[in-house]
Amino acid sequence: MHDEAQLVHDSESESPKIRKDNESIKLMNEKYNTPKTSLLLFHFDPHPFISSKSRLKECSIQHSSVENKDIYLFRDFYMKDESRDMQDYSRNATFSRSSYGSQESKEKGEEPARSMDNKEKWVFFAKPPQPIKEIYKFLSLLSLELNADISTLPWDICDEKLCASAVATNRVERSSKESMEMGKHEDFNTEKGLPFGIPILYSKEQAYYPCNFINGSEGNPWLVSFMLYATAENFKSSYGLGTVFCKKNGEITTRVPCEHMNFVIFEGDILHSIEESTIPADIHTWRVSYVFKLLINPKVPNKSMKEELRKLLGDSQ
Ligand SMILES: [Fe+2]
Repeated sequence: MHDEAQLVHDSESESPKIRKDNESIKLMNEKYNTPKTSLLLFHFDPHPFISSKSRLKECSIQHSSVENKDIYLFRDFYMKDESRDMQDYSRNATFSRSSYGSQESKEKGEEPARSMDNKEKWVFFAKPPQPIKEIYKFLSLLSLELNADISTLPWDICDEKLCASAVATNRVERSSKESMEMGKHEDFNTEKGLPFGIPILYSKEQAYYPCNFINGSEGNPWLVSFMLYATAENFKSSYGLGTVFCKKNGEITTRVPCEHMNFVIFEGDILHSIEESTIPADIHTWRVSYVFKLLINPKVPNKSMKEELRKLLGDSQ
């Protein structure tokens, strides 16, 4: 964790610019043509935020991969006062809804986590606490450095039963091994096909990518999930409730521990789940994960965003 003095500050007026867009994305699968579906995107406009640059330089980044899909764990990105802010925010926030890893796991009886309902989530996104604003700034910087358009995925893609949302929050107090197994899911799968069309930014005419593509390959979009942890003061990383990442056959190969203010960027088509907890029976505690599902859309045809991020994060350390 950094002291305030160690980091360069952006001037007060420098807030991240977030652009609302209801036109770019085209629904391609009628199954999701429901009243709850919202194709709204939020773009993080490119900007050279000085504080984000210096945080990126100072923080520690650990890279791992599962079947050649990337996971980046960021530590020490935040300052002490932000860490307290996020703890206070998470303690006081309301999470009115039950949430599950997938419809299948819900049917099998997975223990639900708590999550924000639509209104709570909307307020969280639009009027976020400062540490979340720092994420928006960081994404604006990445957008500039990668020469990409970075936005959220569509706000809600819903069929009759379930919604996949661009922003998700999960408040968990305990989780069983069975729940970990049943909760394994992908956030999306570009090889099986997306239910929506993404515009090709380097095309002169209006054109869309096919729904099936190799995530992050040259000239294609890269879909990733961004997840920040916040925990109670008495939470220990040895209690579990981090994230397990699995091969396609379900074998767990990587565990990212749950530590307050750490965040992870991972390819959301890696099978993953909330890690089982090992919290002593007499301890009451909690952790929240704040997830943003992101679309990194290249502005040029001959670059792989996945490779560009690898280079950028390798060079920044
Ligand atoms: Fe997920």
